[in-house]
Amino acid sequence: MRLPQHHALLWILSLNRALCSVPRQVTWSDKQFGPDGPWQAVTVSMGSNYTELVVPSSEVALYPGGSWESRILLSSICDNKTLSSVCYGDIAGLFDSDISVTLDNTSIETAPDGNWGDLSWGYTDAVPVYARATRAIDWMTIDGSAVPEVDLITIAGGWQTYPGGQAYPLEVGILSLGSPDINQTFGAVIKINATFITSYFYDQSGSLEIPSYSYGMHIGSAPLGIPGSLLLGGYDQNRVMGDVSAQAFSSGSFPIELFDLGIGVAEGGSPWNYSNKSGLLAQGNSSLASGLRVIVDPANPYLYLPQSACDALAAELPVTYQPDYGLYFWNTSDPQFDAIVTSPSYLAFRFGKNNLNNEYITIKAPFALLNLTLQAPLVETPTQYFPCMATNSTPALGRAFLQAAFVGVNWFGGKWFLAQAPGPDGSFIVDTVTIGDNDSTISGSTNSWEDTWQNTWKVLATRSTNSTTSNTSTPQPTTSSTPTKTNNVLSPVVKIGIIIGSTVGGVLIISLLSALCIRRRRQRRDTAIRDQNQISETQMHQGPGSLTHQLVPVEAPDSIWDQRNELHSQERYEMGAERGPFFELEPGKGGGREAVFELPGRMSGVSLNVI
Ligand SMILES: *[C@@H]1O[C@H](CO)[C@@H](O)[C@H](O)[C@H]1NC(C)=O
Ligand SMILES: *[C@@H]1O[C@H](CO)[C@@H](O)[C@H](O)[C@H]1NC(C)=O
Ligand SMILES: *[C@@H]1O[C@H](CO)[C@@H](O)[C@H](O)[C@H]1NC(C)=O
Ligand SMILES: *[C@@H]1O[C@H](CO)[C@@H](O)[C@H](O)[C@H]1NC(C)=O
Ligand SMILES: *[C@@H]1O[C@H](CO)[C@@H](O)[C@H](O)[C@H]1NC(C)=O
Ligand SMILES: *[C@@H]1O[C@H](CO)[C@@H](O)[C@H](O)[C@H]1NC(C)=O
Ligand SMILES: *[C@@H]1O[C@H](CO)[C@@H](O)[C@H](O)[C@H]1NC(C)=O
Ligand SMILES: *[C@@H]1O[C@H](CO)[C@@H](O)[C@H](O)[C@H]1NC(C)=O
Ligand SMILES: *[C@@H]1O[C@H](CO)[C@@H](O)[C@H](O)[C@H]1NC(C)=O
Ligand SMILES: *[C@@H]1O[C@H](CO)[C@@H](O)[C@H](O)[C@H]1NC(C)=O
Ligand SMILES: *[C@@H]1O[C@H](CO)[C@@H](O)[C@H](O)[C@H]1NC(C)=O
Ligand SMILES: *[C@@H]1O[C@H](CO)[C@@H](O)[C@H](O)[C@H]1NC(C)=O
Repeated sequence: MRLPQHHALLWILSLNRALCSVPRQVTWSDKQFGPDGPWQAVTVSMGSNYTELVVPSSEVALYPGGSWESRILLSSICDNKTLSSVCYGDIAGLFDSDISVTLDNTSIETAPDGNWGDLSWGYTDAVPVYARATRAIDWMTIDGSAVPEVDLITIAGGWQTYPGGQAYPLEVGILSLGSPDINQTFGAVIKINATFITSYFYDQSGSLEIPSYSYGMHIGSAPLGIPGSLLLGGYDQNRVMGDVSAQAFSSGSFPIELFDLGIGVAEGGSPWNYSNKSGLLAQGNSSLASGLRVIVDPANPYLYLPQSACDALAAELPVTYQPDYGLYFWNTSDPQFDAIVTSPSYLAFRFGKNNLNNEYITIKAPFALLNLTLQAPLVETPTQYFPCMATNSTPALGRAFLQAAFVGVNWFGGKWFLAQAPGPDGSFIVDTVTIGDNDSTISGSTNSWEDTWQNTWKVLATRSTNSTTSNTSTPQPTTSSTPTKTNNVLSPVVKIGIIIGSTVGGVLIISLLSALCIRRRRQRRDTAIRDQNQISETQMHQGPGSLTHQLVPVEAPDSIWDQRNELHSQERYEMGAERGPFFELEPGKGGGREAVFELPGRMSGVSLNVI
């Protein structure tokens, strides 16, 4: 809040931020989105309706965490009333591209080019999307900071088809948070650069200048009151509980080896006649005992696993399979349902840690988070479902999983990060930690995960049978439930700013802060720098307040990033193996030289008739 008495202080802090390189917090929409959540999303403004000042033309909510192109639904998506008389896309907002004066949907000649075709949506195709889509670039404004030439696929019409064959409208688009490259470059002769909000904020001087081309995210849960967290250039350490696994990404995707699925109870009695059960991944197919490579995919909602694994999980739960949806409905009248989703019961995902196959990290997703709701238009009345969907193609863990997990990436550090995220009773005071330029690891908090659920779950009485709970998983009473904040003081830079700001004039402050920040930027360390500035965090929520730089993109001088991009922007033709058909390059096209464009694997796998 911009309280008057804090005005001077906030002004100094905003200057400090404008000049220094700190992670930026992204504001989440206060609405919830479906039709299979409820999920949380972030709000951005698309396009512009006035060239000089670039006034955003449409506000839309997007599910964050995609890579390469953002997927933006256009107003025309609701024109076809055959599919649905209700415009579900209106809930999140649609982009009225006719108003935007900066939209360019003709310069990039790579498919999708405005014709109908299969459109990839994240990294799995268990619910295929068919759409009339076009590559485009346009401005995107996020928390008041505008980014030009954002890499987009605009969708003028389309639907998703569930396993039973029924088509449903698309409701919410996807916000890309980068790729291994600064830009996606199209065209053989004239190169068109399409950029990403994260790379732009990092790379372009005069923009927000986040400390690294990275982000840290926990999508949280609306019904359980876990707010979403998304920081660009850093992460909130309170969202990273304990061990972190860091592993290589592949093109824009986040693969990891899943070694097992299990069921456990953190504390007290069990709703089952056992206290824990492992081996569920391979129970119905022993060849999965050696592990299954899955992709963690914020762009998709469910847990996409082999049929045998979904069946093994379902056999332990009061659910019934629904072939129309390929999902399982909870039997809410079975007393075991309440016991499972209100008790400390969880689904355990055991992964190989740090790309190793002899070290493990287990993410626990409490069943409370897996009591999700299908809504219209998928079903007539809201229906509780368990989000396992069988797939023969790429196995993936979508938002259902990410409610319980922290995900982050440092695109130039070469690694993506996975860790346990807190429950509803965690600390949602943002403890900002910077991700350094080339960092390939991040560190978590030592707070107890069990404590972050303690007030929410109802511990069952221990039965006098064999189903006693294990002592090993009970919360350690030594861990305080209030997060330990040892470094919670203002940084010297800010302290100096405050002292001086209360005595002398603005010019001196600016030059002093500039000097400090320049030195700080030069000193960029490999290790994470804690940003202890809690006050500025609160204000960041209101918007980045970078008075001078907002909406004024500055042409970047030649920088080291241009050189670095050279390394990345060599011709790459990464054809997705699982999805097709893919672009095929016609030799000789483009004046003897093959068209140069970067094809981001499955993400851009849009079927196209070879020209
Ligand atoms: C331009 O955008 C502003 C702010 O979103 C809106 O109020 C205005 O109506 C728009 N103008 C036109 C011509 O669409
Ligand atoms: C409208 O949607 C229906 C059903 O999804 C589809 O068959 C039809 O081709 C669409 N019409 C147009 C003009 O897009
Ligand atoms: C490009 O955008 C304009 C304005 O929204 C639209 O009328 C046109 O159909 C689009 N072209 C393609 C190929 O999508
Ligand atoms: C795209 O970026 C490259 C540098 O990476 C530059 O050479 C080229 O001119 C840019 N293209 C446009 C259209 O700005
Ligand atoms: C546990 O419950 C299952 C059915 O839910 C039953 O088949 C099994 O025999 C039980 N095991 C024991 C040890 O009671
Ligand atoms: C799982 O249950 C067995 C007994 O059924 C027990 O010995 C073991 O400690 C439990 N493991 C965990 C992690 O709770
Ligand atoms: C068992 O898993 C393997 C490896 O994923 C797969 O190739 C095979 O088709 C599966 N078998 C059955 C019967 O589903
Ligand atoms: C749901 O559970 C109730 C109570 O256990 C049972 O009577 C009913 O048959 C179950 N319904 C289905 C569809 O399994
Ligand atoms: C399951 O989720 C629904 C919707 O969020 C909620 O109303 C209901 O209370 C939940 N059920 C239990 C047993 O927690
Ligand atoms: C990050 O790596 C690049 C390329 O290896 C190097 O030029 C740069 O100095 C590194 N940055 C830091 C802060 O170490
Ligand atoms: C646990 O169950 C087994 C058989 O299922 C029985 O032999 C054993 O005595 C039981 N132990 C306890 C502590 O109840
Ligand atoms: C990325 O694209 C932007 C916009 O065209 C351009 O200004 C910038 O130089 C490009 N950066 C790189 C590293 O190619």
